[in-house]
Amino acid sequence: MDTEGKLLLVTLEGIDGSGKSTLHLALRELLADLDPVYTREPGATWVGESVRRAIAEQIDPVTEATLFVADHAAHLAKIIRPALEEGKLVISDRYSDSRYAYQSVTLTGVIPKPEEWLRAMHNGWSIVPDKTFLCVLPIDEALSRLKPQNEREHFEKREVLEKVQNNYLKFACEDPSRFVIVDAMKEKDEIAMFVAGSIRQILQLSRSHCQR
Ligand code: TYD
Repeated sequence: MDTEGKLLLVTLEGIDGSGKSTLHLALRELLADLDPVYTREPGATWVGESVRRAIAEQIDPVTEATLFVADHAAHLAKIIRPALEEGKLVISDRYSDSRYAYQSVTLTGVIPKPEEWLRAMHNGWSIVPDKTFLCVLPIDEALSRLKPQNEREHFEKREVLEKVQNNYLKFACEDPSRFVIVDAMKEKDEIAMFVAGSIRQILQLSRSHCQR
């Protein structure tokens, strides 16, 4: 399918263990004919290395949050903007909603109104995705899919993941035209087919609007 001239940024979001990375991988095959740019946060550029280090060393939450934002800025500049300018379909495994969902939790009690602060940090230069697929599942199921407790990152705790998923669901309610909630308990092939089909539909719709 020809996607020329249509800017389309699709993001995949969800808590750790929700299967969005598996979905990202499956879409590579299912959407191969569209030749999308597949990318991710954190770590699409070298800035991501400092983010990985920050996560591993558990530095203070403001440092961690600002490193995630720095990684996003580099990601936009190096990968997302150039791809969109070329008219490519871009599919990112995590993006700005990860910050709004996770860092709103880690910054609670550290700074006032963390979500507002995080959104303000992105305003005016970041790009809002056209569509966001949010993988949702019971926390117990997500935890059962993760590594053993002693090997987990500090985000991967029940009390954190519960709050993060609630944040994501709140964002989806606030912006229902952008978010699509995906039942992550379904078979992974079924999920991938559904998301791939939705992306094709959105592309077709945007094409017919552009022709008007
Ligand atoms: P990710 O590499 O997607 O995790 P994994 O591949 O292990 O599932 O992301 C690493 C962690 O970073 C994950 O727990 C989510 C968290 N994260 C944030 O807290 N804020 C962010 O802005 C991003 C992009 C990720």
